[in-house]
Amino acid sequence: MVVADLGCSSGPNTFLVLTQVMKIIAKQCRLLELQPPEMQFFLNDLPGNDFNNIFQSLDYFEESVKTEKGAICVPHFVAGLPGSFYKRLFPSQSVHFFHSSYSLMWISQVPEGLESNGEHVSPNKGNIYIGKASPPLVVKLYQAQFNRDFSLFLKLRFNELVPGGQMVLAFLGRKKKNIYNGELSSLWGLVSESLHSMVLEGIVEEKKLDSFNLPFYAPSMEEAKEVINAQGLFDIIHMQMFESNWDPYDDSDDDFVIDHVQSGANFAMCIRSVLEPIIGSHFGSSIVDELFSRFAMNVAKHLIKEKTKLPVLTLCLKKKE
Ligand SMILES: C[S@@+](CC[C@H](N)C(=O)[O-])C[C@H]1O[C@@H](n2cnc3c(N)ncnc32)[C@H](O)[C@@H]1O
Repeated sequence: MVVADLGCSSGPNTFLVLTQVMKIIAKQCRLLELQPPEMQFFLNDLPGNDFNNIFQSLDYFEESVKTEKGAICVPHFVAGLPGSFYKRLFPSQSVHFFHSSYSLMWISQVPEGLESNGEHVSPNKGNIYIGKASPPLVVKLYQAQFNRDFSLFLKLRFNELVPGGQMVLAFLGRKKKNIYNGELSSLWGLVSESLHSMVLEGIVEEKKLDSFNLPFYAPSMEEAKEVINAQGLFDIIHMQMFESNWDPYDDSDDDFVIDHVQSGANFAMCIRSVLEPIIGSHFGSSIVDELFSRFAMNVAKHLIKEKTKLPVLTLCLKKKE
């Protein structure tokens, strides 16, 4: 049985999927009184991902499997697979199950038409994503890029899945109806504000900020569903939106933040781990410490006004026969 995790990153979460899948397979095999199949896991991410770290953690992972009662009996093999999931990764009809979490909101590129060069100023000047002041053209360009990328992703995976193969996809999305005011617009707006304050103090060049846009799109559930239905390649078995707090240490369901400053710092650390490479390569690594300390303060101030949450879209799709 071939299973692939797309956008696996390199950290403790990377191996979580493998353990979960093995536990489920072991349980089903026990129920059906079958021998568990041999499993081939592929861990995929962009070539710049720290695959060496994954490979060096494999022994540790194997040790941990021995203590995971449910998973222990499943024979398995693990391989790294560098490459973009917006390209073909596998031979036709060779994969049984795809998993991808917190990755598909990264689109393949910044939409064409947003760049600024020379005399030409970006239509999204001052924003790094869709913001309250973005003109409708910016929204259109982002939506079109997401539609193209997500359609391509579905087509590629359709070809690679065996008949009846399935995918579980979880990615950041939008709950609010107003696209200019989505939850992720609030978040990236706070990064824009932090960068803007550094422009005012001459730490960051204004034209550097104006030419920076994120290759990111947070769709609503309706938008994601529309693309899936327009393609007609997958049945939607299950779909659900859940929300997670910005502060990863805050597991509460309420709308109350106990310590704004601490939550701001915790969330800034998370966002730094995601944005640091992209910020460093555009603005230079010298601004990173200062940027994320300003961002932490901006998050703290925002959390006093509103406990915004991250909407996560979860979809289980089955390849149509
Ligand atoms: C936030 S991490 C998610 C890590 C892990 N799946 C988790 O849930 O904790 C997003 C990952 O997606 C990867 N990614 C983004 N675009 C990708 C693409 N086109 N192809 C493959 N991986 C991609 C990034 O490199 C990053 O490691």
